[in-house]
Amino acid sequence: MIKSKLVNLLNEMTLDEKIGQLVQISGNFFLEEDNVQTGPISNLGMCENMIYKVGSILNIVGAKNVITVQNKYLEKSRLKIPLMFMADIINGYKTVFPIPLAQGCSWNTEVVKRCAQISMKEATIAGVNVNFYPMVDLVRDARWGRVMESTGGEDTYLNEIYAKVLVNAIQGDDISQEGNCAACIKHFAAYGAVESGREYNKVDMSERELRQYYMSAYKAGIEEKAKMIMTSFNIVDGIPATINKWLLREILRAEYGFDGVVISDYSAIQETIAHGISIDKKDAALRAINAGVDIDMQTNVYSNFLKELVKEKVLDISLIDEAVYRVLKLKNELKLFENPYGNANIEKEKKILLSNENLEEARKLTSETFVLLKNKQNVLPINKNQKIALIGPYADNFAITGEWSMFSERENIVTIKQALEERIGKENILYAKGSNMLTTKEMNYILKADGKELLKNGEELKTQKKYLDEAMVVAKKADIIVLAVGEHYKQSGEGNARVSLRIPKLQQKLINTLRTLNKPIVMVLFNGRPLVLEGIENKVDAILEVWFPGTEGARAIWDVLFGDENPSGKLNMCFPEHEGQCPIYYNQYNTGRPNINNLRFESRYQDASIYPKYPFGFGLSYSKLEYRDLKLSSTILHKGKNDKITVSVTIENCSNVDAKETVQLYIQDLFGSVVRPIKELKAFKKVLIKAKGKTKIEFEITEEMLKFWNRDLQYISEEGEFKVYIGCNCRDCLEGKFELI
Ligand code: GLC
Repeated sequence: MIKSKLVNLLNEMTLDEKIGQLVQISGNFFLEEDNVQTGPISNLGMCENMIYKVGSILNIVGAKNVITVQNKYLEKSRLKIPLMFMADIINGYKTVFPIPLAQGCSWNTEVVKRCAQISMKEATIAGVNVNFYPMVDLVRDARWGRVMESTGGEDTYLNEIYAKVLVNAIQGDDISQEGNCAACIKHFAAYGAVESGREYNKVDMSERELRQYYMSAYKAGIEEKAKMIMTSFNIVDGIPATINKWLLREILRAEYGFDGVVISDYSAIQETIAHGISIDKKDAALRAINAGVDIDMQTNVYSNFLKELVKEKVLDISLIDEAVYRVLKLKNELKLFENPYGNANIEKEKKILLSNENLEEARKLTSETFVLLKNKQNVLPINKNQKIALIGPYADNFAITGEWSMFSERENIVTIKQALEERIGKENILYAKGSNMLTTKEMNYILKADGKELLKNGEELKTQKKYLDEAMVVAKKADIIVLAVGEHYKQSGEGNARVSLRIPKLQQKLINTLRTLNKPIVMVLFNGRPLVLEGIENKVDAILEVWFPGTEGARAIWDVLFGDENPSGKLNMCFPEHEGQCPIYYNQYNTGRPNINNLRFESRYQDASIYPKYPFGFGLSYSKLEYRDLKLSSTILHKGKNDKITVSVTIENCSNVDAKETVQLYIQDLFGSVVRPIKELKAFKKVLIKAKGKTKIEFEITEEMLKFWNRDLQYISEEGEFKVYIGCNCRDCLEGKFELI
């Protein structure tokens, strides 16, 4: 529809119809079946006549459902303005990929892109018009459950890179085309900085710190023309993001030039009352529309109060018109006026969802997301003649797709045991569950949070001894133990912040018991966040971090364990040595008393290191790589001259196994007008280094890489001395020096 027609449509709309476009509700008003729950269920208390005026629906998917709901709705719509269908397709629709935190560990933008593209192919033929993804929040505190949704993890630059990749992978060139839909960047802003890692908690930092570390990934996604932004639950400088005019109008609209749709997070407008800012829903409605929130997700604040505010002349209708126009413009770009069903296609769903092609590619992509954290005496890869004892609560468990895979079905998930049977035959399997996943107490945290009936204390003890005994019998028959353990998938994700980052207690007991056999143990770790492996790491010989690897995860795990694939993942978020270190991240500041000799009056802990167990960028492989000969083309970079320095390093693969290695470039600004971090990732390259081969890797250092936010909130570079580091992670690097003059 051409712009003039859109404006005419807007002018034809009644005030109720306009306000309706600014409301999003879940689908259970239109469909009997239970709607996926991604927030607190409340009685919406919406006026009946508004239900069939709402502009969009949350988390209704499936071509048949979408077509049914759209038809029901349009029958009652005076102006036949179609609904938009929005959903969280975070790591897959029916074919589920590794969780975003895992995908980010591939350091391969092609992997992240393909996971998103296949997911969008499936989701758009299932009727999704807007995907509430990518989440580009910087995350530095593993206690926060939603670190699992971040691809860039603890690094600003990595978050920027992935934000761009994901917006383009989701939107393509035309969001109305099959396989593409509108991307919604979230959560604006700095939701990942919740204090103490506690969910929905306070976020407070200087504007300089906010700009330096948290905002550039959102900005990067906007520069890629993301169509939507979602406000975050937290406060920014004392004001909830969802009613924060400075954040939404001055930064997002004016400074970043965002002209898309702003949607609140789930009931976030209403929650500004609980925050203690809005005195009631009417006040919340006024504050949010004034701040520039276009769509109210899943409350009746806009639907029941905006009209009153206009009638009382407290709210100018122009603010509503501009919001409605943005919503109509998005529907128009999706070509929903021409075809209200979008790309929903019942026939195509049968062919494309979980197609062999999608599954085969998922298996390949997944293997690049695993991180080999330990491989003592090269116990991996497993020799095919070795007798394997497969043990652990994840050994024959479907729940390996993570908390945001709510549209997938467990019958499509292959377990590790099934995948091993495919390889060596059922008759050769040595398997034991070995342990319950959680203690009753740990499980009841999850059940209580979901309002479910609790287990009776000690329930698990009835079976625990049996499981342990069975495990010991099986393990004694084997040459090597593959131990599949980890967090319950509902111990990470939204609403699942934890103060303990340990492997669940019963599983620790299993590990300690198996250790007594003195057989090689390979721990395959399932988790949605970095864990503290104190007391566990030294009990196993190898650790393969697989996160929640998705539909083809189990097959990909054996591809790596048997050496068909050489692990190449690197951590995008470090593993703390202890929870007390959180938040912990590599680009920290030196302080005035750097921790050099671990003496009393140094920046340190008395009872722990200040460094993580496994640092940012860390990951082993089956190859042996040597870095040497860091060289700079010059030690002087001229300011303002578009100058560059080429820095190179030679990497030799001293093994017989081809390696995919992520070579990382970090820069340190030794002195600045504000304190600068000890190093920052500025570039990386993932390269193939053939067995017994070597390669020279080059990077260009530019003045742009040296810029930062100074005291006066200018983004500038400053003359002075710098160090450049190149290495296989943030800690183990070769270094050089140069000057900006
Ligand atoms: C949730 C999440 C957000 C999600 C939204 C819709 O509360 O915070 O990431 O997109 O609700 O499901």
